[in-house]
Amino acid sequence: MSQPTIESILHEERLFQPAADFSQQAQIKSLEQYQQLYDKAKADPQAFWAELAATELHWFQKWDTVLDWQPPFAKWFVNGKINISYNCLDRHLTTWRRNKAALIWEGEPGDSRTLTYAQLHREVCQFANVLKQLGVKKGDRVGIYMPMIPEAAIAMLACARIGAVHSVVFGGFSAEALRDRLMDVQAKLVVTADGGWRKDAIVPLKEQVDKALANNSAPAVANVLVVRRTEQTIAMEPGRDHWWHDLQAGVSADCPAEPMDSEDMLFVLYTSGSTGKPKGVVHTTGGYNLYTHMTTKWIFDLKDTDVYWCTADVGWITGHSYIVYGPLSNGATSVMYEGAPRASNPGCTWDMIEKYGVNIFYTAPTAIRAFIKMGEHLPNARNLDSLRLLGTVGEPINPEAWMWYHRIIGKERCPIVDTWWQTETGGIMITPLPGAVPTKPGSATLPFPGILAEIVDLEGDPVPPNEGGYLAVRHPWPGMMRTVYGDPDRFRRTYWEHIPPKDGAYLYFAGDGARRDEDGYFWVMGRVDDVINVAGHRLGTMEIESALVSHPFVAEAAVVGKPDDLKGEEIVAFVTLENNITASDQLKNELKKHVVQEIGAIARPGEIKFAEALPKTRSGKIMRRLLRSLAAGEEISGDTSTLEDRSVLEKLREG
Ligand code: PRX
Repeated sequence: MSQPTIESILHEERLFQPAADFSQQAQIKSLEQYQQLYDKAKADPQAFWAELAATELHWFQKWDTVLDWQPPFAKWFVNGKINISYNCLDRHLTTWRRNKAALIWEGEPGDSRTLTYAQLHREVCQFANVLKQLGVKKGDRVGIYMPMIPEAAIAMLACARIGAVHSVVFGGFSAEALRDRLMDVQAKLVVTADGGWRKDAIVPLKEQVDKALANNSAPAVANVLVVRRTEQTIAMEPGRDHWWHDLQAGVSADCPAEPMDSEDMLFVLYTSGSTGKPKGVVHTTGGYNLYTHMTTKWIFDLKDTDVYWCTADVGWITGHSYIVYGPLSNGATSVMYEGAPRASNPGCTWDMIEKYGVNIFYTAPTAIRAFIKMGEHLPNARNLDSLRLLGTVGEPINPEAWMWYHRIIGKERCPIVDTWWQTETGGIMITPLPGAVPTKPGSATLPFPGILAEIVDLEGDPVPPNEGGYLAVRHPWPGMMRTVYGDPDRFRRTYWEHIPPKDGAYLYFAGDGARRDEDGYFWVMGRVDDVINVAGHRLGTMEIESALVSHPFVAEAAVVGKPDDLKGEEIVAFVTLENNITASDQLKNELKKHVVQEIGAIARPGEIKFAEALPKTRSGKIMRRLLRSLAAGEEISGDTSTLEDRSVLEKLREG
């Protein structure tokens, strides 16, 4: 199996039309209908979004301006009053959906829970009252560090209900990484669990929280709320730590949703970039609600009878937008699964689909490649007839994996939506609408209506068809990030200055390289910056380098990505050691462990290569391009004349 290369993609000529019976029942039924919507949105984006906002969402008070665009800062639905928890819960209670399943959850040990809209509403109201009782107010930040259990979604919705800003930290991040994020966002309270189940083992979340808060290192955190999940003995600090169930038991279930300003902050979610520490991506209320609502509705072609399952973790943007907010705002039934395929239960994914009759299934290419490796006998032994639509997200999908998904899981009957987007974009940007747009394996196809995506050079000039360039977006959209938390300058620098604005027109720089083919289809090639994508997880090479050099034996480190059949990319670290330190396999393992401790298991280097020196330019910049070629085992090509010391390269090559 290979990753997409320009050559393989250029030769991709297969085109799959949506099946006629799918199109007939779809929300958007034909390419013509898509084109009309697209043209309408392009001609007048504000009118397009305003009409949808008025018809699809509940507002306590209507906005007076659709868009206030002071580049690069956008405000959508200015002075509108709205609450996303109200849109996800309360408004369904007066309809037949009151007793419809909102969340169907299954834990790794096989325990399960279903919460109807009425039940979820009740739990959210109670937990919102718990937060209030502990002094959490509108605008306060709340850290959420949870396993994949319903309480994670309940905590998010409860924050949104009272106007507190949540910042979810993926449960796989280490105590160090958690501390950095809690400190940056100045969280006042943390919601966690004793532990979570992952591959038959307990992830000791509360223990990590204790480490993160040790020595008063995140002093703003006054309270920690702990869900009992895995039931091992844990330390509880009197005054600071409280059991969720104790406090929840004593509170009222009456908690009206706070009318929030459309531009009030909804959440901060940290993501990696090429420089510095991970940045807090800020999303606000009204625009994000509308954008996740509309993308879920049209891209997943939601019907009220559908059972929809997105396999992401709520610690990532995909979990925020497409497990919690988008599906619930639409009144859908969203499936949540705590576990992952594991040796003791490699077929759990297909069991879940059969057991709950899942109709729409959304996962990552890395997961698909792992399914292929585990063997098609696993899905073939289950009844997957309920499936009608498949999706992928997080990284480019290689055409072979796409075809396997299409044949073995979709039985050549389910459309596949390959969805390109980012933490920053809030929701899906480039994707087929499944009843309308013919698909090509490996292409995310066409922009969502209202999204003016382009391929440009660094001057912002359009690049001809089939030539590589930078993926950029021309007009603001409701779901876009508003700023970097506490650092508006970094927001401007990172996203709006790589391509200088021309004649007052600003282009959002996504950080991905891509091309458009002769049909206007987008082919996303991957990051053009120092971000690597390992198993669909986004990591900054600099973060991993900082973790490595924080080890006392390491003098310098340079991290690059190397193509990997399963994970898309693998982390390779070139390390030089301090004087008198001897390289050994034992030290390699110690350094890998050190990175896991500093960031989390997702950042564990696959390979560490010791070097006497790193290849640098005369001005002292590490030449990563050369390291990437070395890591991939390729011949060094291109210009090496700027190398300060050519013998460094020879030595590295000799290994
Ligand atoms: O490189 C692109 C890749 O994932 C990056 C965004 O990562 P993150 O913010 O963690 O969000 C992931 C989930 C939305 C992008 O810059 N990416 C995401 N989806 C695709 C993709 N690359 C190719 N095809 C996709 N469908």
